[in-house]
Amino acid sequence: MSEIGKPISRIDGRLKVTGKATYAAEFNQQGMAYAFPVRATIAKGQIASIDDAAAKKEPGVLAVISHKNALKLKPLDQEAQMKAGAAFLGETLPPLQDNKVHYLGQFIAVVVAESYEQARNAAYRLKVRYNAEKGANDLKSELPKAKKPKMFMGEEAQVNEGKAAGPLAASAHRVNQTYTTPVEHHHPMEPHATVAVWDGTEKLTLYDATQGVGMTSAIAAYFLGLQPGNVQVIAPYVGGGFGSKGLWLHTLLVAMAAKVVKRPVKLALTRQMMQTNVGHRAATIQKVALGTDAAGKLSALRHHTDSYTNLTEFFEPSGKQSLVLYKAPLREVTYNVAKLNRGTPTFMRAPGEAPGTFALESALDEIAYELKMDPIAFRIANHTTNDPMKGHEFSSEYLVDCYKIGAENFGWSARSMEPRQKRVGKYLVGYGMATATYPGGRSAASVKVTMTANGEVTVGTASIDIGTGTYTVLAQTVADALGIPVDRIEVKIGDSSLPAAPLAGGSQTTASIHPAAMESCVMLRKELTTLAIADSSSKLHGRKPEEIGFANGKLFITGDEKKADAYVDILRRAKRTELEACATTQPVSGAGMTVPSALCTPRETPAEQNSDIKQHSFHSFGAQFAEVWVDEDFGTVRVKRFTSVHDVGRIMNEKTARSQIIGGVIFGIGAALMEATEYDQRWGNPVTRTLADYHVPVNLDVPPIDVHFIGKPDPHISPIGARGIGEIGITGVSAAIANAVFNATGKRLRDLPLTPDKLI
Ligand code: MOS
Repeated sequence: MSEIGKPISRIDGRLKVTGKATYAAEFNQQGMAYAFPVRATIAKGQIASIDDAAAKKEPGVLAVISHKNALKLKPLDQEAQMKAGAAFLGETLPPLQDNKVHYLGQFIAVVVAESYEQARNAAYRLKVRYNAEKGANDLKSELPKAKKPKMFMGEEAQVNEGKAAGPLAASAHRVNQTYTTPVEHHHPMEPHATVAVWDGTEKLTLYDATQGVGMTSAIAAYFLGLQPGNVQVIAPYVGGGFGSKGLWLHTLLVAMAAKVVKRPVKLALTRQMMQTNVGHRAATIQKVALGTDAAGKLSALRHHTDSYTNLTEFFEPSGKQSLVLYKAPLREVTYNVAKLNRGTPTFMRAPGEAPGTFALESALDEIAYELKMDPIAFRIANHTTNDPMKGHEFSSEYLVDCYKIGAENFGWSARSMEPRQKRVGKYLVGYGMATATYPGGRSAASVKVTMTANGEVTVGTASIDIGTGTYTVLAQTVADALGIPVDRIEVKIGDSSLPAAPLAGGSQTTASIHPAAMESCVMLRKELTTLAIADSSSKLHGRKPEEIGFANGKLFITGDEKKADAYVDILRRAKRTELEACATTQPVSGAGMTVPSALCTPRETPAEQNSDIKQHSFHSFGAQFAEVWVDEDFGTVRVKRFTSVHDVGRIMNEKTARSQIIGGVIFGIGAALMEATEYDQRWGNPVTRTLADYHVPVNLDVPPIDVHFIGKPDPHISPIGARGIGEIGITGVSAAIANAVFNATGKRLRDLPLTPDKLI
């Protein structure tokens, strides 16, 4: 029976709940010192002077590093970024190189001391004077200066600009509305931390809370001017990332600090620093216009996003789903990107689609209401089985099934079209739904599988488990492909010295590493088969490879399982201490989240792995259903039930997959009802600085979440058939909730989060 798909518990679960899984900040070293950063208190300007005399006199202080004495680092250019895996998640300007301040909270110095408390104490005694300028803190007032970016991640950013106006004007029905979303922060449970250990001046080891050991290794080496490969990054366990764990500048600060004091140094960010120094989701102002004919067929779709960036080219790509969903003859998707003096925005779980589906799927609900059509019927009437921009068929697509399964399990038929029709006690009850979608990417990945003479198997790849289940699911695939139990398999990930894998982002880990893992196992079985056939004392001697099957750690003649030969016996008689194979998954064109230099060679890939990447578009789809109870006296919204149905290809582990979707839906409930980072417009400082005021859903905010999977393998993404699952769960959630609030109250709220002040 196949191991793949079984709902087994995490193989690293016991280590985690007993505190034995080692996270970055726990890699304590002999003679380790501690670094504490100093952050700018203005949003824009120059440092006029830094007086470190008082700080240096404090007990335990080893060094104070600022732009006056910092190591010179190389700014990151586009080419270096591509070489390190295109999806670099951090900032491109290295720290402490000049006296310029680009945002409040920017690192301007770092203090190193014998203890954390001493470093922190001395850091507060640094006297910094600034020449402050007026920072750009307000998106709306900066929009007149905003630029239209040409590209986003290798794709054209401005699509059919200005072309929708005509068809929209000629439409029988129209909706044209503005939807806004706030700044959000990732806030993974584990704060960012790095321990830096130099071996001489040319080799560096970083124990780092990162989503990509290969990416961090390559980019740190670049910034620090080291040979690629001379920075080893180790991250066996990572407590969440959601896009925030790229290479951010604290990692470079601690590397510099360790070089200066010639000792290992640890730097752990405070929760407050995570508001300014490790990225966020930028606020968006989205204008969505839809036009239909009299029967409700879409004639045009326009989606414009105003947003901002700071020190990178990244902007929130909220129009992405509007290029993929629904059959509309004309779609226009455009962006304006301003520059604000606040910590640099970055990828955050479903970058683009999370705020983008709020706007698009709210607008769809609005036009369906105009047309007096059921929102599901409206979506089915406008369903597309082709990628509307590329014209390709989707590789496998069951969105209509998602709607139907969702509607049935949720009890959608009990919904009334007219709002304010259902009450329970003093609560108004409403139902809402929305479509979910996320691209199905696949990046290059190499996976090495080693079998030792005693039958133990090790699988190694420079992948990461940020809480998603990578350890567990990889063990399942190898167990399945070799016919051995999961508990005989050791999974080695989170080390940049292993064969290359993509960073844990873009929902690509499973689709990328599993084809290579399976292929490596096939190569091992072939070698075992060859050894057995050639061995005169094997029961398989002289037989044809096609006749030979495998299970329970043995090869055997199919249909005659007594004629078997155990892997350990084959290896013992051949006097082999171990067998090893390393195969590589090829990227779907355009996807590049892997450092190519660390892929194993040879890199030929079986044709099957690549069969259809030119003929198909790879996307996952889903349907989200929410029931809300609204208290009109207090304006509070409670999500009472949630149903989430997804078409993500093959399910590799029913339990970890379900957890991913539940996590995504909870993330979406946070975005819908409570999450927002507020800035003081005068100074540009975030005023929601901790988890006490940046609200995320807690247990009482989270209803039962009913998760369903279509579960049909995608025949084109890989021989395994799994697309990604990490991000789609959040998409559509805030729209489903806002649509349910409309159904409950008759109030159409277009500004997230849906806080009580907007409902009374
Ligand atoms: Mo995800 S935002 O690609 O970590």
